Amino acid sequence: MNQKVIMVTGAAGFIGSHVVDRLLSSGHEVVGVDDLSTGSEENLMGARKHKLFEFANCDITESNFFEILVQRTRPDVIVHLAGLVSVERGEKEPMLNYRLNLHATQLVAEAARKFGIGRVVFASSAAVYGASEDLPLSEKSARKPINLYGSAKGLSEQLLAGYVRSYGLNAVALRFFNVYGPRQDPSSPYSGVLSIFVNRLRKGEPITIFGDGWQTRDFISVHDVVSGICMAATCEDVASGDYNLCTGRSTSVIDVFNELRLHFPKAQDAEFGPERAGDIRDSLGDPTRAKEAFGFEAEVSIGEGLKELLES
Ligand code: NAD
Ligand code: UD1
Repeated sequence: MNQKVIMVTGAAGFIGSHVVDRLLSSGHEVVGVDDLSTGSEENLMGARKHKLFEFANCDITESNFFEILVQRTRPDVIVHLAGLVSVERGEKEPMLNYRLNLHATQLVAEAARKFGIGRVVFASSAAVYGASEDLPLSEKSARKPINLYGSAKGLSEQLLAGYVRSYGLNAVALRFFNVYGPRQDPSSPYSGVLSIFVNRLRKGEPITIFGDGWQTRDFISVHDVVSGICMAATCEDVASGDYNLCTGRSTSVIDVFNELRLHFPKAQDAEFGPERAGDIRDSLGDPTRAKEAFGFEAEVSIGEGLKELLES
């Protein structure tokens, strides 16, 4: 194995902490960066014991601490996951959305350019496709975001493509679809739908479905997304560009609620609320390009993934 030094921004978050664990267990050296705004120290409990792990508590958009860290540690790859994850919060707090989902990308790209970092892997999103009805969504589908979150992620992709053209940076934007699994913060109203549903069902609290519930998502287990990120970060040659990380299968919100409910016989019926602003109706991705480029294939079925979530 070719050992690398890999910097992971957003290391204490849901996806980031799993990425850190996987990279360490594969023998890589990891520099984790996080300001703990939505992530938590607890997610890094295992990693903290590892001698190949260094952690920097830093907001990458404030001061030049991040740039100095890149200069000192000279990673082979930066996996940039730090960001604002909630579409809904992005609508309510546009300045925060663009600072975390666009400006932070600019700072990462700039540090990579200045210090000759080999590759940047960026956490983009299916939200860049917007309300496209051209399903399943392939990377050839148009980028037409319908919310500020998708707009910031799409602009980040374009910014990185500019650094590829002008400075020869190797930049890989991974468009994650709806990621779920252990460590997704269930306490935040801005968390992913599956962790909110499981958390509320466990506590006997009511569940609200926004809209009619027939909206669909390509739900992907965090373990599969982590495999895709690690492949994109460590494979020898990965061409710069955009790649979907998805399963190629979609499920409606109502079906997933009914499936989870079977495990909670006393659960109440779901309540229905107004559709969320900026909500996409149907989302389903085509994973072919990531398979061809770096061998990515989702392996966890929704049934297995929900079982793991319920047992976590
Ligand atoms: P998360 O909120 O658990 O992780 C984000 C992490 O970034 C947190 O630990 C947070 O503390 C950190 N962070 C935020 N701003 C920071 C800053 N300025 N400086 C340093 N650290 C900062 O969310 P997640 O689900 O793990 O998402 C990770 C990335 O993947 C995000 O960029 C998100 O937009 C993207 N993404 C997530 C999903 C999903 O379904 N969860 C889907 C598509 C894309
Ligand atoms: C999610 C991710 C986003 C990512 C995108 C990619 C989160 C929080 N957001 O956005 O980062 O870029 O996938 O596809 O993980 N819903 C309910 N009741 C609830 C909560 C949600 O009905 O209590 C509905 C929403 O209205 C939506 C669906 O469930 O229709 C999914 O919502 P959510 O988990 O927030 O994800 P996305 O908005 O798709």
